Amino acid sequence: MKKISPTLTGHTPGRRVEVFLANGLIDRLGEVILQSVGAHGRGPGVPSGKSKSQAKSSARSTNRSPIEIVTDRNVAGLLGQRVIDSLANSGWSVNVSVTPAGENIKSSATVAKLHNHWFELGYDRNTPVIALGGGTVGDVTGFAAATFLRGLPFWQVPTSIVAQVDAALGGKVGINHTRGKNLIGCFYQPAGIVIDPSALDTLPIRERCSGFAEVVKYGVIADRTLFQACERHLESWISGDEAIPDSVIKRCARIKLRIVAADETDHGLRRTLNFGHTLGHAFERWGKYRALRHGEAVALGMVGAGWMAMKRGLWSGRDFTRLAKLCTLLRPRRLAAFKVSDIARHLSVDKKRIRGRNVWILPRGIGRVDVCADVTEKEISGALSYIAAWLRS
Ligand SMILES: NC(=O)c1ccc[n+]([C@@H]2O[C@H](COP(=O)([O-])OP(=O)(O)OC[C@H]3O[C@@H](n4cnc5c(N)ncnc54)[C@H](O)[C@@H]3O)[C@@H](O)[C@H]2O)c1
Ligand SMILES: [Zn+2]
Repeated sequence: MKKISPTLTGHTPGRRVEVFLANGLIDRLGEVILQSVGAHGRGPGVPSGKSKSQAKSSARSTNRSPIEIVTDRNVAGLLGQRVIDSLANSGWSVNVSVTPAGENIKSSATVAKLHNHWFELGYDRNTPVIALGGGTVGDVTGFAAATFLRGLPFWQVPTSIVAQVDAALGGKVGINHTRGKNLIGCFYQPAGIVIDPSALDTLPIRERCSGFAEVVKYGVIADRTLFQACERHLESWISGDEAIPDSVIKRCARIKLRIVAADETDHGLRRTLNFGHTLGHAFERWGKYRALRHGEAVALGMVGAGWMAMKRGLWSGRDFTRLAKLCTLLRPRRLAAFKVSDIARHLSVDKKRIRGRNVWILPRGIGRVDVCADVTEKEISGALSYIAAWLRS
């Protein structure tokens, strides 16, 4: 069988991260994982603790090594069987855990359920765990894998745009707490990331828009060409008239890998990925994580940060208008009126505050941003009033 080479590789202090990206890879997942574990002297049919030569004979026996897929109900119905078939054809004994869909699965209850199940199945530290789904499945599965026996090999197979361009890359895994989103977690890099853009064909339009907000974000923070591609094609990517090109997903993944390689634990450059997220997270909290999809909130946040940057003279009114035009395609179709003071209040519980101040990412042009901590209350209320008026326009 021809070796499948990684499309991109990233480096963090702890490990090399491989990204495989191509249409149809969902059906070759078994091969990809097999070639990776084979390179480490393990594989299906190789019960842990046996040598390679001992394993040759046992591979023919029924003693196949287990592999775990965690997925949500929607994705299980759409892609589950193809992934199971691909893994089984490569010799794995496949187990599947199916969760409900949505943000609520990022909980300690889901982690406990997965851990109990994995103990019952007798998983050891060589048992690979695959997260098949959007960012929620990736985050909770990664956290469960990181904390089970101090770490199982973990594979990300992202199926939403948010996950393919962002959540599956970078090694942040975690769950929510009653006090807030993503408050419990760790950095745990996956053994590999397998991206099949054709998996996005079934993604509902609102989820597509949510993902495109992250794509626009990458354009503003680091890639003028990507931003220009969004200006030309975003409308037809959203409507589905044109499929999102692999090259767009690849560009985003490359930017994220580069930033994470420079700053895995989010103390410097990685903060730039937060463009649109300071206000975005406040809007999400205000909407109790139900009123807005993540990307819709980020679209509001990007307009707010872009407006502040324009008022400060960091970038031109023309560039701000270009950004606002794209965000108009991504903003929520319906949103209850909000009070400026309500959103401002939700800013004060941002976990990324430093010495009591929010950190803001403000654009200096298309493809370049600054990290600022000196944004005033007046600027914030000005930006929120602008967003309210823009939403009515
Ligand atoms: N770890 C990180 O670095 C990071 C980065 C960004 C976002 N996130 C997290 O990711 C989550 C958001 O991710 P998301 O938007 O993918 O949410 P999600 O996982 O809830 O997926 C969105 C919806 O799309 C469905 N879906 C997924 N793939 C599909 C497909 N191919 N066809 C049809 N339906 C499909 C899901 O079942 C779900 O209903 C949030 O919890 C956020 O905190 C994490
Ligand atoms: Zn985001």
